[in-house]
Amino acid sequence: MSLPLLKIGVVLSTMAMITNWMSQTLPSLVGLNTTKLTAAQGGYPDRSTGVLPANPEDSWQVYSSAQDSEGRCVCTVVAPQQSMCSRDARTKQLRQLLEKVQNMTQSIQVLDQRTQRDLQYVEKMEVQLRGLETKFRQVEENHKQNIAKQFKAIKAKMEELRPLIPVLEEYKADAKLVLQFKEEVQNLTTVLSELQEEMGAYDYEELHNRVSNLEERLRACMQKLACGKLTGISDPITIKTSGSRFGSWMTDPLAPEGDTRVWYMDGYHNNRFVREYKSMQDFMTSDNFTSHRLPHPWSGTGQVVYNGSIYFNKFQSHVIIKFDFRTSSISKSRQLDYAGFNNAYHYAWGGHSDIDLMADEGGLWAVYATNQNAGNIVLSKLNPSTLQIVKSWTTNHPKRSAGESFMICGTLYVTNGYSGGTKVYYAYSTNSSTYEYIDIAFQNKYSHISMLDYNPRDRALYAWNNGHQVLYNVTLFHVINSEEL
Ligand SMILES: *[C@@H]1O[C@H](CO)[C@@H](O)[C@H](O)[C@H]1NC(C)=O
Ligand SMILES: *[C@@H]1O[C@H](CO)[C@@H](O)[C@H](O)[C@H]1NC(C)=O
Ligand SMILES: *[C@@H]1O[C@H](CO)[C@@H](O)[C@H](O)[C@H]1NC(C)=O
Ligand SMILES: *[C@@H]1O[C@H](CO)[C@@H](O)[C@H](O)[C@H]1NC(C)=O
Ligand SMILES: *[C@@H]1O[C@H](CO)[C@@H](O)[C@H](O)[C@H]1NC(C)=O
Ligand SMILES: *[C@@H]1O[C@H](CO)[C@@H](O)[C@H](O)[C@H]1NC(C)=O
Ligand SMILES: *[C@@H]1O[C@H](CO)[C@@H](O)[C@H](O)[C@H]1NC(C)=O
Repeated sequence: MSLPLLKIGVVLSTMAMITNWMSQTLPSLVGLNTTKLTAAQGGYPDRSTGVLPANPEDSWQVYSSAQDSEGRCVCTVVAPQQSMCSRDARTKQLRQLLEKVQNMTQSIQVLDQRTQRDLQYVEKMEVQLRGLETKFRQVEENHKQNIAKQFKAIKAKMEELRPLIPVLEEYKADAKLVLQFKEEVQNLTTVLSELQEEMGAYDYEELHNRVSNLEERLRACMQKLACGKLTGISDPITIKTSGSRFGSWMTDPLAPEGDTRVWYMDGYHNNRFVREYKSMQDFMTSDNFTSHRLPHPWSGTGQVVYNGSIYFNKFQSHVIIKFDFRTSSISKSRQLDYAGFNNAYHYAWGGHSDIDLMADEGGLWAVYATNQNAGNIVLSKLNPSTLQIVKSWTTNHPKRSAGESFMICGTLYVTNGYSGGTKVYYAYSTNSSTYEYIDIAFQNKYSHISMLDYNPRDRALYAWNNGHQVLYNVTLFHVINSEEL
């Protein structure tokens, strides 16, 4: 008896795989990666998804096979042997299964179409840009000859280019690309300036306006890119090697322009001396610092320097203290109600890391856990002057099993551990009060992370990595709707 066999192309086996596929594809999409996209990279070779009972004889089986020649995932459905199950049950199973497959096919097709379309736009855009560059080079070379004709061609190209810009902004909304684009525009402007001497002023003016307009829109685009979803973390750069296994260091995200003073706190336990380095450069190259003695020692490594003050968890308490460096005095202190302390709800690495203070684009935050929330992470937005809680969110993530956490653009990101291979795997959005599991690996170079915080000014993560102070860049992804422009 032969088994009926359905082969369904461009179908992934579960919605989870779609999510996975997106998380792999999106980062490369925003990274101006024009290599051919493949669905379900890495593949799920010949793994039964176990939709229905395990006995292969009397159940429907769905196999998501290895990729086909075009790099797509293929789903194979195998029907049970006719005699093994009753007609009714089989009909019902078949209907459910087909519906499921149909649903998934639809989702994938939508994703696939979008991706293909986006890539086509982007590839076309790149061809256009390259063509434009060549044209300009020709113009430069043949400076004197036939210049008016060349100029017309450039204008036409620019005309072609314009409709693509919003598309590019929408789908390849990545700062790196925008920077590259800006450079291109600057190059154009330079060449245009050289041409100006040769040309009638009117034509030049018009073209120049177009270029300026383009640049303006790109700049607006870049500002909108200030926030987004974390999609990638760069390799670390080791800034300095100093201090013990545990500590924290940072710059003030609200410091005035040019102020790159580094704040440095070694140890998590019963210490009260904060080092101030004049600049990042000083920090890297010297051991020349000023020492500030806090009125109370701290607990953990959750301190944050924000707008000229340090906020820290007072030793053996759930009190938060705001200490103003300008006046060298406490300007506010307040209990963080219900917050566990003294290793009640530390991060996985311990070290009295119960209360973690941090800042992002949206302000000041406290990450902690309470008995009321069963030891799961509670996130509170704090008023930086009064230290009162503005709003709180309760998550379902146990604080003790979190490696570290940091906030970017109102989303809390949690890592899976402090030693060995580390990744960001949980994200809680305060905007929507929802969470999702993600998978963003990053290098834990020195095998022990006791502090990890985002600085919205640098768009970088500061980490204390086993007596090394390291930095990571982050990639944020944000799709801009055309209406926003
Ligand atoms: C582009 O994709 C290829 C293959 O997927 C990968 O090897 C390469 O590192 C990617 N480049 C960037 C800049 O992401
Ligand atoms: C398919 O999608 C429809 C509508 O979105 C939903 O009601 C149905 O439960 C889905 N079926 C399966 C098997 O997931
Ligand atoms: C702009 O010009 C500089 C110097 O001529 C060159 O190095 C760079 O690659 C150009 N950038 C682009 C995006 O073409
Ligand atoms: C250390 O800093 C002080 C004050 O900022 C300065 O006077 C001194 O020259 C510095 N020393 C070194 C070795 O850089
Ligand atoms: C930062 O501090 C200055 C001066 O103390 C104050 O005027 C300003 O509102 C503060 N900014 C924020 C975002 O708290
Ligand atoms: C927050 O959510 C609203 C609607 O739910 C959405 O329009 C807005 O873009 C979101 N903001 C961010 C920063 O995600
Ligand atoms: C982050 O990016 C900036 C700009 O490209 C670069 O200068 C810096 O070295 C990068 N830092 C890290 C940690 O990769």
